[in-house]
Amino acid sequence: MTGTTVSIHGMWSTRLAFILAAAGSAVGLGNIWRFPYTAGEYGGGAFVLIYLLCVAGIGIPIMMAEVLLGRRGRQSPINTMRALAEREGKTPAWSLLGWMGILAGFLILSFYSVIAGWTLAYVLRAAGGAFAGIDGAGSKALFDGLVGDGERLLAWHTIFMVLTVMVVARGVASGLERSVRWMMPALFVLLVVMVVYAAWAGDLGAAARYLFAPDFARLQDKAGEAVLSAMGQAFFSLSLGMGAIMVYGSYLRRDASIARSAVMIAATDTLVALLAGLAIFPIVFAHGLEPGSGPGLIFVTLPIAFGEIPGGGLFGTLFFTLLVFAAWTSSISILEPVVAWLVENRGFTRVRASILGGAGAWLLGIACLLSLNLWSGYTLFGKGVLDLFDYLTANVLLPLGGILIAVFAGWVLPRSATLDELGGQDGVAYRSWRFLVRYVAPMAVTLVLLNGLGLFKAMGLG
Ligand code: PFF
Repeated sequence: MTGTTVSIHGMWSTRLAFILAAAGSAVGLGNIWRFPYTAGEYGGGAFVLIYLLCVAGIGIPIMMAEVLLGRRGRQSPINTMRALAEREGKTPAWSLLGWMGILAGFLILSFYSVIAGWTLAYVLRAAGGAFAGIDGAGSKALFDGLVGDGERLLAWHTIFMVLTVMVVARGVASGLERSVRWMMPALFVLLVVMVVYAAWAGDLGAAARYLFAPDFARLQDKAGEAVLSAMGQAFFSLSLGMGAIMVYGSYLRRDASIARSAVMIAATDTLVALLAGLAIFPIVFAHGLEPGSGPGLIFVTLPIAFGEIPGGGLFGTLFFTLLVFAAWTSSISILEPVVAWLVENRGFTRVRASILGGAGAWLLGIACLLSLNLWSGYTLFGKGVLDLFDYLTANVLLPLGGILIAVFAGWVLPRSATLDELGGQDGVAYRSWRFLVRYVAPMAVTLVLLNGLGLFKAMGLG
């Protein structure tokens, strides 16, 4: 009834391997770089609260749906969607969901690799003692120097893309599984060390109030945009809506519990994001920095901390190294869907497919990095290429993909199929999940999307 039981691309050896890989995909720059600065742009607590609601009410159910679809189809998202739709006598056009995911993947990987490049650069800076005794202004100048230098950005972007291609080329089980096993715990421990430091040297009280006391007045007329950004952040951070989690699900064995895995992955991801906030905002407030200062936030604040801590050079080097690893375990999952498709449909070897996919994202990445310097005068909707790709993927393409995934799992697949995938127990848990993917997620995501994009305002309703 469920078709093939294994994928031609390989399988995770255990459920834990899947959880680690999916958590590796989820935990990345989105948690440590993107979450704090986005929360900062929307005033903190209210954003965080909406974010948590989105993770629990929309993110976890959609993650379960995405894993379930992947495991049932056992192919790249494009072919999985086509096969599952045809099996139910529905239009093969559902494969467009897979194509949209591939587009989102290219756009995300292109700017992701540029930011990961910043992290690589900061490993060397930390190791070379560049942060010793640095103050707010010095740190800002150091960051601006990097971002303004297109050639250096290109070099780091290239190095990171090569690293990504290398792991994907080697296949899922061997390269990936082994590395995430120790990287994830190490990153976690170091983040806790940073929080302890920030509590000791910075203003933890102010940070906690900022992050956890929702003050909706701070959103003012930006409420629609803030809700959309919080939801987009949840999709981005949980790697949902573009097929990355679907393709990882296609390598998952039949006996593993999808619900429990999804909860563990989402909980880990959320904890890491909150810890990142608690490591960064105490320093922001203690040094009079601006919480809403944008994408440079961690690259400006953390060096100040590392510059003061005894052994900060070592801690800084370790921290940015782990951040590179976190980005790496995410970037491979962004590339995997297109690689699986090239292998399935074009008969490419994995190596060739990975190189081709990586090269495409690399080229797009050049436009992203130039938008930070040479092309900084060119904008669309007030955004440069990098910001535009980031906004378009997190706040539009991933939510759209999420709606389609929820609709497919809730309305197209028969109840018996999803019940079977989710363990066969027709209890409260299953019924709640089905209610969430059939009604809540599609409607909530659609409303937030239309409202955030200003549609209701344009119609005179807002
Ligand atoms: N979840 C990753 C992060 O938070 O850094 C980014 C990401 C990975 C987004 C995979 C989308 C994706 F499919």
